[in-house]
Amino acid sequence: MTSNVLVVDFGAQYAQLIARRVREAHVFSEIVPSSITAAEVKQKAPAAIILSGGPKSVYEVPAPLLDPAIYDLGVPILGICYGAQLMALQLGGDVARTGAGEYGRTVVTRRGSSWLMGEWSSSTDCWMSHGDAISRAPDGFVVTASSPEAPVATMEDAERRLFAVQFHPEVAHTERGQELLATFLHQVAQIPPTWTNTSIIEDQVAAIRAQVGAEKVLCALSGGVDSAVAAALVTKAVGAQLTCVFVDTGLMRKNEGEQIEDTFTRQFGVELIHVKAQDRFFEALAGVTDPEKKRKIIGELFIREFETVARELGKGGDGPRFLVQGTLYPDVIESGSGHAANIKSHHNVGGLPEDLSFDLVEPLRNLFKDEVRRVGEELGLPAEIVWRQPFPGPGLGVRIVGEVTRERAEILRNADYVVVDEIKKAGLYRELWQSFAVLPAVRTVGVMGDGRTYAYPIIIRAVTSDDAMTADWACLPYEVIESIANRLIREVDGVNRVALDVTSKPPGTIEWE
Ligand code: XMP
Repeated sequence: MTSNVLVVDFGAQYAQLIARRVREAHVFSEIVPSSITAAEVKQKAPAAIILSGGPKSVYEVPAPLLDPAIYDLGVPILGICYGAQLMALQLGGDVARTGAGEYGRTVVTRRGSSWLMGEWSSSTDCWMSHGDAISRAPDGFVVTASSPEAPVATMEDAERRLFAVQFHPEVAHTERGQELLATFLHQVAQIPPTWTNTSIIEDQVAAIRAQVGAEKVLCALSGGVDSAVAAALVTKAVGAQLTCVFVDTGLMRKNEGEQIEDTFTRQFGVELIHVKAQDRFFEALAGVTDPEKKRKIIGELFIREFETVARELGKGGDGPRFLVQGTLYPDVIESGSGHAANIKSHHNVGGLPEDLSFDLVEPLRNLFKDEVRRVGEELGLPAEIVWRQPFPGPGLGVRIVGEVTRERAEILRNADYVVVDEIKKAGLYRELWQSFAVLPAVRTVGVMGDGRTYAYPIIIRAVTSDDAMTADWACLPYEVIESIANRLIREVDGVNRVALDVTSKPPGTIEWE
């Protein structure tokens, strides 16, 4: 990993988006807190720095500041929105509380020549979101564009390679925003576009080899994207030392186990232990209806099953020393430190007993989800795995309201397959955050043929979301709802009615339990 861009985080979600856009320009980027010192920056030796926007005003007390010595390091800096105003203020310019902000699409008018905006036309649509505005550029800077409420919409000091833009180039509504970032990175900072899927894979393969040496490695596969891509990377690095474990809880999606086995055993030639634990899970869940109790039982039993395999492998003393985790970059950032504090709860491997302690291998900890997917594709994982929607750790268990039995799990699994199949046929699968079926704990009366039925309804749940923290119920086209409903009734035994969940989050959660 050669050139690195530091994205200084001034709050809100802007920094993550900027970091992703930088990576789309094939340059590695790392998010750092605004408390970073000039000495720390120097140690990281970045090729460029970007100051993010943030929710605060530069006049708020306390407003996050930047160590002013950072401006003197000779590293090219681009300030965006709050970052732009801070740069202006800290270098001797003025920021005014105009009271008239700009929010949304705003026309920015060029003034004179600009290194950053090169061939841009005289007016360009940009995305703005600011209350204060730079009113006077610091000495050494020239103003290169303005907007109705921002006299200094952009400014630059070409000699010191310091740039500030009031608008958000990282937002898709800013015409040529990505181009501006690319110009800053490639032309101003002279960073070559070498961060590609291939380079990510090469770097990680080398890092895994260096970390694990000749030791054995264990990986729990869940059927999800992250664990699959992490396992595929470790396979490429030290495939012969890797053992994968797939615990079938009986609460997986249709064909999930077969697909994992097919991919990892037949395609990648990895040793895979397929634990068929369905009976034990259904037994443990018998008679339990409380959602939290169900989650707990599933989580604990999963650990026990995994532990059994790990101990078995460890007999004779040369068991696996390393455990693969699919921790992603957002988890690392959100934990606020250099290390993700808690291991992803999905398979709760963090709860393993002390005497089964592993060193962690986390080959995805620098990557965003979209990068993980692209790496997965490049490694040859099938699209069905790489593009799979998120699936909760407790599986179908949190979508079966009331008691989880083998029969009810089978009804839901078949219903889920139909929902997803129709969503895929309609070309909506990748657009939706999640789309699935829910089985409630009631039965209703219906009529089929000449007979009365008394069977379960299925609820269709489909949401759009960026991060699962909030979600909107998806307005599925009527024809799609109709074909899902027809097939559910026709193809899934035990179902005689279909309903649609039109609850957003909040107030609902995405899962029903
Ligand atoms: P809720 O239902 O809280 O879900 O809106 C938010 C997101 O998290 C997923 N989810 C889980 N993921 N273990 C997981 O790994 C869990 O126990 C769990 N519960 C919910 C859910 O599918 C959604 O994407």
